[in-house]
Amino acid sequence: MAPAQPSTEAISLLALRRSTPADFLTGPGPDQETLEAILTISARVPDHRRVTPFRFVLFEGAARDAFGDILKAAFLANEPDAGEERAEKERQRFLRAPIVVAVVSSVKPDHRTPVWEQMMTAGAVCQNMLLAASAHGFAAQWLTEWYAFDEKVLAQLGLGENEKIAGYVYMGTATCEPKERARPVVEDIVTSYKV
Ligand SMILES: Cc1cc2nc3c(=O)[nH]c(=O)nc-3n(C[C@H](O)[C@H](O)[C@H](O)COP(=O)(O)O)c2cc1C
Repeated sequence: MAPAQPSTEAISLLALRRSTPADFLTGPGPDQETLEAILTISARVPDHRRVTPFRFVLFEGAARDAFGDILKAAFLANEPDAGEERAEKERQRFLRAPIVVAVVSSVKPDHRTPVWEQMMTAGAVCQNMLLAASAHGFAAQWLTEWYAFDEKVLAQLGLGENEKIAGYVYMGTATCEPKERARPVVEDIVTSYKV
């Protein structure tokens, strides 16, 4: 691979990529081979001293429904008066897309590479996943929502004490054209260091 890879297609993907809200995703999702290719690209990120401070938990098929029971129980434990309709909506979160990938930030606190750097690597993984999904023909959205931070849910996911959810990446086929949103104006966020 050349050190630089000029590609108008890549520029277009980077310049125009948009998330599709999970509510507007449906099947089909990537097949196993494509999913593996997407995960391989996702894992190809800058990673100071090759710590690999991340891992993936896949939710596909019936597992999405089964995990819904855990989401619902955790939700009702937090909000016992929320009502059945709302709790049922929480149970169905992972059913919004055919594949949900939990990207787990898995840091090694005693490593020479600062924890902050290890966490940023997990963020890069999520972004790569959005790009890889798009390049493979699938829409996606990177979400955390409440169940990325809920202790009961995290325990059921088997997260260790040095682990956090960097994001749940929902992947599938878009049922609508995603709307554009306002983007930062580059001049507003750039200054030049003056000597
Ligand atoms: C770490 C992280 C967590 C996010 N969590 C949520 C979320 O819980 N709910 C939400 O609506 N958007 C969330 N977003 C924003 C969406 O991923 C996305 O940025 C938004 O839908 C706009 O899409 P686009 O800027 O990728 O086109 C999150 C983004 C990041 C980086």
